[in-house]
Amino acid sequence: MEYWLALALGGLPLLGYLLWWWNELHYVLPLKLRDSAVAAKLPPGHLGFPLLGEMLTCRKKLDAIFRVELEKKKYRIKVGTSTSNDDLDLMDGLMQIEDDEGNKLSDQEVIDNIVSLVVAGYESTSLASTWAIYYLAKYPNVLKKLREENMVAIRNKKGDFITSDDVSNLTYTNKVVEETIRMANISAFNFRLATNEVEYKGYKIPKGWKVIMWTRYLHTNAENFADPMCFNPDRWNDPAKPGTYLVFGGGPRICAGNMLARIQLSLFLHHLSTKYTWELLNPDAAIEYLPHPKPVDGVEISVSKL
Ligand code: HEM
Repeated sequence: MEYWLALALGGLPLLGYLLWWWNELHYVLPLKLRDSAVAAKLPPGHLGFPLLGEMLTCRKKLDAIFRVELEKKKYRIKVGTSTSNDDLDLMDGLMQIEDDEGNKLSDQEVIDNIVSLVVAGYESTSLASTWAIYYLAKYPNVLKKLREENMVAIRNKKGDFITSDDVSNLTYTNKVVEETIRMANISAFNFRLATNEVEYKGYKIPKGWKVIMWTRYLHTNAENFADPMCFNPDRWNDPAKPGTYLVFGGGPRICAGNMLARIQLSLFLHHLSTKYTWELLNPDAAIEYLPHPKPVDGVEISVSKL
């Protein structure tokens, strides 16, 4: 018994120490070697909790990458070689933005906002693309119509690239996008805080209570969408009933990237449908729902060029 106790008490700190060093060597040192300006600002490594440590380390890596960009921009402003107004990007916008009293965001707030956008914009659209691949493999009639529309767009396009005007003319493709995100329910629910007491369908929601709005329920309810589990882009020939389609939330906090996400998905579908053909390796894979819904195999496919 004493032997095991001694081993646990002595071994755990040693394990923590080893993990800390592993983290330093694996992630932090390469960053330090790449840029000494970054090194000075890196917070200390984690203390041996691999999952949490991994998350914190990823956050640190993102911070470090964006801090380099921020420092470059600040330097360009200082020496007067900053880019023209036409070339300003989101980080420039966040660096310049002021509230009514003229207060600007701190450097860390600028970086935090950029990191939030990467987080909000990355997994959401990659999951939506994953679901598009999945549904199009399961509904070949939809893929056929999608491919036909996009082949015509390729034949008609003026230059080398498809333009945003071309994308808005891809009416069937845009319906496939809406149907994909309705079915995918990437954000299955939304939180709100009742800032006043509200009465809803005979229920009283007191001021200060938090409310979950279950969007998956709205999007899979047959009262809102006929045959809701069928992937049918043609249902978007008519708009959804008001308040029944909230994939991007709503109100002043509606998803800031909703139009970007739609364009990204349309472009993705354009290239995918006109260049590739694919099959699901596990068409009956179970679906997992946390943290976001997706088939457990991550949608494994065999893919070949058209
Ligand atoms: C299919 C893709 C996406 C889906 C389904 C989605 C969904 C959502 C939802 C449901 C919200 C909460 C809205 C609310 O509370 O009313 C949200 C917020 C947000 N999304 Fe998205 N999103 C997607 C893509 C993106 C992209 C590409 C970006 C940016 C690059 C983005 C940036 C944001 C931001 C910044 C917020 C917070 C807005 C705020 O609180 O004011 N999203 N998104």
